[in-house]
Amino acid sequence: MSKYPEVDAVFAGESDGCIVCGDCLEVMVGMADKSCVVVTDPPYGIGADSMQMGSGEHRWHVSDNAWDDSHPPRGAFDEILRIGNNAIIWGGNYFTEFLPPTPHWLVWDKQNPNLSFAEGELAWVKNGKRLRIFCHYSAHVHKLHPTEKPTRLMVWCVDGYSHPSDIILDPFVGSGTTCVAAKQLGRRYIGIEIDEGYCEIARKRLRETQPLFDKLKQKVEQKHLL
Ligand SMILES: C[S@@+](CC[C@H](N)C(=O)[O-])C[C@H]1O[C@@H](n2cnc3c(N)ncnc32)[C@H](O)[C@@H]1O
Repeated sequence: MSKYPEVDAVFAGESDGCIVCGDCLEVMVGMADKSCVVVTDPPYGIGADSMQMGSGEHRWHVSDNAWDDSHPPRGAFDEILRIGNNAIIWGGNYFTEFLPPTPHWLVWDKQNPNLSFAEGELAWVKNGKRLRIFCHYSAHVHKLHPTEKPTRLMVWCVDGYSHPSDIILDPFVGSGTTCVAAKQLGRRYIGIEIDEGYCEIARKRLRETQPLFDKLKQKVEQKHLL
């Protein structure tokens, strides 16, 4: 039994998922090797918390706290690589000093050449061989988190890189998007977030999230729902 009974319950199959409020390094240390599929979006350390984001009618100012002033330490990436049977790390191009080379990158093409910021984002993938591109325009006018990822992007990651029996771990879960995607796809999930306000936002989103698929039907019959 670890310090985190809600995490133990997910591993034991007694719970479908949890959001843990705390430092992910402390929570991850109790998890077994290769016990999860990690899909995550760590702070890039580029000061996104104090930037003007977007353009035109979609411009917003981000200034609630200083969570993006620095990126996570090497130890966090070591833990992700140890626990992750596979791992997808958004912003992987900011963390190359901590990650081994990989031929497998994901590209999110934001389909918006007018943005004053990057036209896309990159994710580092632990296992795999081929670069993949996801094209998705997302205005995100009503964001719950300044760097909230589109749910459809995270559904694409979870669906493509995990099996129904896998546990999805996001140690930097923010407003909970990865866990929402996992729940929509019927996967168990563990989200960790250091900010209590975002933990509450993530828990509320998850209470309001329903699985996309009827568990009694084959996924292949319901692929059009994605
Ligand atoms: C880039 S944001 C994630 C946004 C998320 N993808 C979403 O859609 O809302 C990174 C998050 O990591 C959290 N964080 C930073 N350091 C942490 C730590 N040591 N343990 C857990 N969470 C942490 C920040 O508070 C922030 O909410």
